[in-house]
Amino acid sequence: MTSIVTGAAGFIGRALTSALLASGSPVVAIDRLAVEERPGLTVLTADLLDLEPGAFSGADAVYHLAGCAGVRDTDPGIAWRRHRDNVLAGARVLALTPPGVPLLITSSSSVYGGASHGRPSAESDPVRPIGGYATSKAALERLCLDRPDVTIVRPFTVAGEGQRPDMALSIWLRAAQEGRPLRMLGSLDRTRDVTDVRQAARAMIELIGAPGIVNLGTGRGHTLRAMAEAVATVTGACLTFDVVPAPPDEPGDSLADTRRLHSLLGWTPRTDLLDLVRRQQLLTCSPP
Ligand SMILES: NC(=O)c1ccc[n+]([C@@H]2O[C@H](COP(=O)([O-])OP(=O)(O)OC[C@H]3O[C@@H](n4cnc5c(N)ncnc54)[C@H](O)[C@@H]3O)[C@@H](O)[C@H]2O)c1
Repeated sequence: MTSIVTGAAGFIGRALTSALLASGSPVVAIDRLAVEERPGLTVLTADLLDLEPGAFSGADAVYHLAGCAGVRDTDPGIAWRRHRDNVLAGARVLALTPPGVPLLITSSSSVYGGASHGRPSAESDPVRPIGGYATSKAALERLCLDRPDVTIVRPFTVAGEGQRPDMALSIWLRAAQEGRPLRMLGSLDRTRDVTDVRQAARAMIELIGAPGIVNLGTGRGHTLRAMAEAVATVTGACLTFDVVPAPPDEPGDSLADTRRLHSLLGWTPRTDLLDLVRRQQLLTCSPP
């Protein structure tokens, strides 16, 4: 049972690759960034858009995690990179995956545009993408309309060891360690549904093959204050905050309706914030 993982050099891709290898499944890791060689792992360092037809033949399952992941990136050229790596690369993966081979595509909870009035976002809700990242993920989902067999996963915030350096907990851990104030967008009372990366990886392995859209979250919101307190406990730092206005495309709250996830898995991810932040502190990634 050979699995292809695209985006295998990334935060979730590394955790998924480790989980698949631990379960005894050989993995072909595809990323344009280097992936460390390991027993059971075949590494293909390439851009998805450069792959030849037939590149996925021999795969028994394809997990597509590659993408341009930053929500708040304002670099020049970001609109094109999002289109290229989220939409065009997704189209290439759909074309390369042979019919009948289970394919899991990673979208994002950002397509919901946030949870309104604390109500969890359900897969049947209309999508309301706000901003370029969410819009590119909604476009990726539309590409799958012709392939109803595809599993489309909408992860909410994923955290844990190796989290991307541009994500809030990573930024706050670095700030706390360096004695700087924690920069908070909007209000400390905003909430995020945070999933442990290990459970996200396990869930993806169990979800592949289930057709349609499924949220990947816990159904529980953590305030930014609670997340910051976990950073304070783990680092021993005395925190100060720099609260700045949230950008207009920043959802106030995010919360997953986990009923479909639970019905497919038979379990729901649960997050131990302190354990998560502790593990994340031990393996933090530096900005490039
Ligand atoms: N981390 C989260 O909280 C979160 C939440 C919702 C959705 N997602 C989605 O999950 C996926 C993985 O997220 P992540 O946090 O691990 O991101 P990441 O940036 O750490 O990993 C993405 C990887 O994809 C690779 N990549 C991008 N475009 C490529 C291309 N054209 N060819 C080859 N490789 C390419 C990058 O080199 C990178 O290693 C992304 O699609 C992201 O949008 C992540």
